[in-house]
Amino acid sequence: MTVTTGSPLRILLLGGTTEATALATHLARVDGVQATLSLAGRTANPAASAFSVRIGGFGGVEGLANHLQREKIDLLVDATHPFAARISANAIAASIETGVPLLAVERPPWTQVDGDDWIEHDGIEAAISALPHKPQDVFSGLGRQAIDALRRAPHHRYLIRVVDPIELPANLAHAKIITARGPFHTEDDIKIFTEHRIRYVLAKNAGGSAAYSKIEAARKLGITVHMVRRPALGPRPTVATSDEALNWIEALHRTRSDLGV
Ligand SMILES: NC(=O)c1ccc[n+]([C@@H]2O[C@H](COP(=O)([O-])OP(=O)(O)OC[C@H]3O[C@@H](n4cnc5c(N)ncnc54)[C@H](OP(=O)(O)O)[C@@H]3O)[C@@H](O)[C@H]2O)c1
Repeated sequence: MTVTTGSPLRILLLGGTTEATALATHLARVDGVQATLSLAGRTANPAASAFSVRIGGFGGVEGLANHLQREKIDLLVDATHPFAARISANAIAASIETGVPLLAVERPPWTQVDGDDWIEHDGIEAAISALPHKPQDVFSGLGRQAIDALRRAPHHRYLIRVVDPIELPANLAHAKIITARGPFHTEDDIKIFTEHRIRYVLAKNAGGSAAYSKIEAARKLGITVHMVRRPALGPRPTVATSDEALNWIEALHRTRSDLGV
């Protein structure tokens, strides 16, 4: 899109998701838009990019608010993972504090379909505590940040999928790690669950397609899923996809141009 405007539309895009990377890639081609993708720096090799990237926390709400003002940001886009609740809450607070408008990109959560056997929980700890008392073969799709919580029920034989290699705590002696980066595929997950005789899957309701394979594989094999519901956030303008976000941003850009901003 080509829009002639007085000053560029400066966007800070909070990322760490496929949606954020896709949006940053599209925005890099829009004339008059300067977008910077912000990453927390959790993964060792974030996907390569053709746009401006900054890495690391801002230092809470104050740090983010200062950054928005210092960098003269016109729009804050929160395209972080639905379970990245702290940065999303900080984004709401910093937007209110500075008056910089906020747009969230949030994929819809998964919903149960015929054949699913889900038990839903508020929080990772509740999901882990709901596993049977006797040792079980359990697949954890909860990510690396849940490792500490798994230590509460160390008697299960966990198969833990993470992006980067990690060292397991001593009391998770029965656990095995698989390192892999999505998107994952249902047939592969069926094979993994069968080989490891998985009886339970621990999952966060991330939504989207990249991590859905474990849910589909569990359905096909009749495995129970302990599903962690999303953390609740305050109200904010939200779109569901990177395409919708791009349309929203282009409309804002056109309006600014019409107003001569
Ligand atoms: N949680 C998940 O399940 C999950 C899954 C896949 C990807 N991710 C991605 O991994 C990142 C970290 O997730 P989390 O659950 O640890 O987040 P979090 O608990 O909400 O955030 C913790 C702190 O990390 C910093 N941070 C988080 N996202 C950032 C970003 N995009 N840019 C700069 N700083 C950021 C902020 O530090 P300051 O307060 O110092 O600013 C924030 O307070 C997020 O960007 C998220 O999109 C998370």
